[in-house]
Amino acid sequence: MEKFVIVGGNCLKGTVRASGSKNATLPVLAASILNAGKSVIHEVPNLRDVAVIKDVLRYLGAKVVDNQNTVEVDTSNIQSVEVSEELMRRMRASNLVLGALLGRFGRVKVSYPGGCQIGSRPMNLHFKGLQALGATIQEKYGYIIAESKKLTGADIHLDLPSVGATENIMMAAVLAEGVTSIKNAAREPEIVDLQNFLNNMGCHVKGAGTDTIKIEGVRLSDLKPAAHTVIPDRIEAGTHIVAAVITGGEVTVTNVIPEHMEPLLAKLREAGVEITAGDDYVKVKGNGRVKAVDIKTMHYPGFPTDMQPQMMALLSLAEGTSVITETIFENRFKHVGELRRMGADIKVEGQSAIVKGVKKLSGAYIEASDLRAGAALVLAALAAEEGTVLENVHHLDRGYERLELKYNSLGARIIRVHN
Ligand code: EPZ
Repeated sequence: MEKFVIVGGNCLKGTVRASGSKNATLPVLAASILNAGKSVIHEVPNLRDVAVIKDVLRYLGAKVVDNQNTVEVDTSNIQSVEVSEELMRRMRASNLVLGALLGRFGRVKVSYPGGCQIGSRPMNLHFKGLQALGATIQEKYGYIIAESKKLTGADIHLDLPSVGATENIMMAAVLAEGVTSIKNAAREPEIVDLQNFLNNMGCHVKGAGTDTIKIEGVRLSDLKPAAHTVIPDRIEAGTHIVAAVITGGEVTVTNVIPEHMEPLLAKLREAGVEITAGDDYVKVKGNGRVKAVDIKTMHYPGFPTDMQPQMMALLSLAEGTSVITETIFENRFKHVGELRRMGADIKVEGQSAIVKGVKKLSGAYIEASDLRAGAALVLAALAAEEGTVLENVHHLDRGYERLELKYNSLGARIIRVHN
């Protein structure tokens, strides 16, 4: 296990580049199963979660070649449609191969990915969508077996705009016979990126980014090799923006699409933060304590749940009291206890956290429980005067490429210690 030793108190200054989006890379790599041929994906971030999906593709029989942040995938020789339990347990988003394997082979067997720290993460909406396309789904002994002789287009209305369910249904529907519509679809930018990749290989998908996605099924023989560049990671970029503000620094984050970050930037401006956005960068200047603001996490384009922990760290030092309501996941306040150990004044009532701003946070011995909670604790430690030890930083490596190197290049003092 590894830990960070962080000595806070420095203002972060300079420029940092956001990597490609983890949450766009995972479905795009899963979708490379569909064209039974070569795909070249650029701007793929070197993350633990991305390494897992590459291992899943190799386990299925695909040839995956890494070349810095470019990945070449050749799925022509996939023979297996079963993903091992060990691989599924390493990352729940491995369930994103479900739709593509079902679409191309008509059968898939994966072990149930199970819940994680932030919630139970059921898959009922994935199953309802795939069943509407004609698949039979069996769940037994911890496995999911989905089969279909032939997938047929259908009108699907999601109970809630689930990102993963939208993506799995899209990947199954592109080879179904006829037209599929997904209503109440997730609208995240990562869904648009998946649509673009699917269309690059010869699929007919439109409407991603809106709540209705239309898919005209094509034949496997219609698909061809595809190249794609993954969009920038809006959550990583947002984390860096908050790091600049919480340390009172001045940072430019490059390789971003500001429009994808609008929900966060609007909230930061409401808190009194000075932000300028260019075509592919966002510049922020922290000037003392931010004003308290209320946050309610919503599906895109609402405030992103993946930025809730990071904003809680910032608002722990705000002028006034903020109310943060988490509506997406039922258990995404694990960072509260750790922030309290650093002197934050936070009370959890149901799905809301009442955050009373304090003048300063102190260093402490704390633990990361999941990816974004860990990010929040790094930000709090950067703002605290003294030293902090943060355990379990492997959670961070799931979604941030060598975070300590990026922050140290801006003036932070973080050492990664191997236990
Ligand atoms: C994606 O997870 C992201 N992961 C998450 O990012 C993100 O927090 C989440 O979307 C919400 O934006 C990836 O893209 C790999 P959902 P996903 O299905 O697809 C419930 C990070 O830190 N639900 O939109 O699993 C579910 O329990 C990660 O990068 C059902 O009830 O999220 C949750 O409460 C964390 N039934 C809500 O919907 C279902 O069948 C949203 O889940 C599916 C989901």
